[in-house]
Amino acid sequence: MFPITEPAVIICRNADDLAPQAAAQFVSLAANAAIRSSRFTVALSGGSTPRALYSLLAAPALKDRIDWRRIHFFWGDERCVRADHSESNYRMVHEALLSKIEIPPENIHRMAGEKEPQLAASEYEDELRRTFQLTHGQVPRFELILLGLGEDGHTASLFPGSAALDETNHLVATAYVEKLKAHRLTLTLSVINAASQVSFLVSGASKSAIVKQILGATPARPDYPAARVNPANGSLTWFLDAPAATGLR
Ligand code: 6PG
Repeated sequence: MFPITEPAVIICRNADDLAPQAAAQFVSLAANAAIRSSRFTVALSGGSTPRALYSLLAAPALKDRIDWRRIHFFWGDERCVRADHSESNYRMVHEALLSKIEIPPENIHRMAGEKEPQLAASEYEDELRRTFQLTHGQVPRFELILLGLGEDGHTASLFPGSAALDETNHLVATAYVEKLKAHRLTLTLSVINAASQVSFLVSGASKSAIVKQILGATPARPDYPAARVNPANGSLTWFLDAPAATGLR
């Protein structure tokens, strides 16, 4: 499936160059939101790749350029574990960023991974409706959604073959990932594709095959969840390092 919106593909020399590129986009989008005196709502990706970005945003050179009072952090997905668990996406972001900046606690919208998954999903959906002041049936429009890419084409916690991929009545879904023997919480594609800006951060040679499948010349198989990310009224950017992009001309 070709993206409806032609994605911008930014190929960085290496993983160390990827975070600064993504950080520049974050700072620019946050500044634009500040000019409009609006909140800057961001759904963060989990996994290991974005950690360098989060650390960079917390570094003195950048953190003082961002008005954290306007930033609202959400998560694109979460593992169903306690917030202090080594697998927790919240914990990763807290260690890399939240523990190093002055941001109002009410601006941190954590998925309750420690709760029963369906309850956590339902509560998070309520949190989205409350924060975005949504009427029934409306979908939140995030300023920015950050995503990663798994070698199987998953993104957030939307895995190939998951029923969550076809969820259109909810903003947040649960998923049991057989190969990981783990429950997950995830934003649904309805929410991801409603965003103003969606940015993938993909690094490493292990991702080159799936990147080629999704961004290469031949149409991606539609059952790759990441291939179904097409923000209808937004922009899509892929930040890749050279090893991840070797399959692209
Ligand atoms: C998660 C992520 C997941 C991740 C990809 C890539 O909770 O793990 O949301 O979708 O982004 O698996 O992970 P890496 O960045 O560690 O390769």
